[in-house]
Amino acid sequence: MSWMLRRELGIGLSLLVGNLVLSMFLCAILLTASCLANAYPSVNVLGIDISRMQPERFALLPFKISDLTRSARSIPSNCHFYIKDAEDEWNFATPFDYIHGRALASCFHSHKTVFEHAFKALRPGGYFELQDCILPLRFFDSTGEGTALETWAQRLNTGAAALGKDFGSVAKYKTILEEIGFIEIVELQFQLPIGIWAAGKKMKTLGELMRKDLLHGIEGMSMAVQTRGLGLNPEEVKSHLAEVKKDLLNDKVHAYFQM
Ligand SMILES: C[S@@+](CC[C@H](N)C(=O)[O-])C[C@H]1O[C@@H](n2cnc3c(N)ncnc32)[C@H](O)[C@@H]1O
Repeated sequence: MSWMLRRELGIGLSLLVGNLVLSMFLCAILLTASCLANAYPSVNVLGIDISRMQPERFALLPFKISDLTRSARSIPSNCHFYIKDAEDEWNFATPFDYIHGRALASCFHSHKTVFEHAFKALRPGGYFELQDCILPLRFFDSTGEGTALETWAQRLNTGAAALGKDFGSVAKYKTILEEIGFIEIVELQFQLPIGIWAAGKKMKTLGELMRKDLLHGIEGMSMAVQTRGLGLNPEEVKSHLAEVKKDLLNDKVHAYFQM
């Protein structure tokens, strides 16, 4: 999914300049870091995540296993993974040329803390690249009004806030980076449709992938936040998600992520 997004959106590795790279947050990072290490054999790539990487996720990839993915299956010797909470102190011995993080909107109590760690861990002139969705999702027109999907999107942010997490932090990334001292900050914004309602082959491909991703992960994204944060019981969450999934599959509902 993430590789397809990366390729379709045309953003990614062009900023890679040096010989030591930190790639944050596994999951798809197993793919990202391995492919990166394969593509740049002289580069040392490090991937970190708070939880163990899950190679079984390969089975869930919604596209045919490509050469790219095959190369990622064998972890190259210049690629290493560590389990680490990114909010804890970073004690890496060597400064990085490039640090990359993606889909981190829901991960931290303080994004600023993590970005400060990244700032200190970069060599002078190094690059920090973030790719993320602004939450909550949005609707292109009035087709989302009164839908279960609209309620779900609001519940996610409200539930997270009750647990001390700001899921809306992506919209503040640029300001946070400026405050920390990053310079020459470039913010590119994209619209990523959910489903195949948007015009054009590229948008339909992206939308279909995003929809598959959401349908697959929506329970995991919702359960803790809505039970612990909002006090709903698991059955309530599940029955609401059944309605949300219908909205996701309804091409008359024009939902998208601002990225
Ligand atoms: C939404 S996934 C994104 C994965 C990958 N970057 C991608 O683009 O597909 C978020 C990842 O961040 C990890 N994560 C969450 N909180 C974290 C933390 N405090 N420190 C390090 N990793 C964390 C999760 O375990 C999960 O693998």
